[in-house]
Amino acid sequence: MVQSEVTTKLNEQLNLECYSANFYLQISAWCHQKKIENFSKFFQKQSKEEIQHIHRIFEYLNDIGKMPILSVINAPPVDFSSLTELIYMAYEHEKNITNKINSLAQTAITLNDYSTFYFLQWYIAQQQKEEKIFKSIKNQLDLVTLDYNGLLLIDQLIKNQY
Ligand SMILES: [Fe+2]
Repeated sequence: MVQSEVTTKLNEQLNLECYSANFYLQISAWCHQKKIENFSKFFQKQSKEEIQHIHRIFEYLNDIGKMPILSVINAPPVDFSSLTELIYMAYEHEKNITNKINSLAQTAITLNDYSTFYFLQWYIAQQQKEEKIFKSIKNQLDLVTLDYNGLLLIDQLIKNQY
């Protein structure tokens, strides 16, 4: 039987994934406004992936007979000073999500909830992938000067990579 502390944390994670989906969709809109189209598409894709993350937890809670509870989601930032700033923010956000998943896994293990611990393995692997992607983009951005040519170059690079 899944302990209530795990259920509470799973629901917190469910809502965090909702925030992530909104955050990346909002970033996509900003990139579109700035005509950085490949980044706009990339973040739209990221947002869709976050929606899958929402549904996995939603279905898991249903499967174990617990109620998924959707809460108020904070509004994501709308404006960014630069592409670099938003990539740094997205990278920090992913690192924060990794910490939350790790903490959730730790709670599951502490409470001998091996079923949830097993369920979380997919998220742990996913977070490793997400962090690697954002770190790689951050590193590439650090190498270019973000004048018009630099933006075009980096926007083409992301099209071919992700
Ligand atoms: Fe996620």
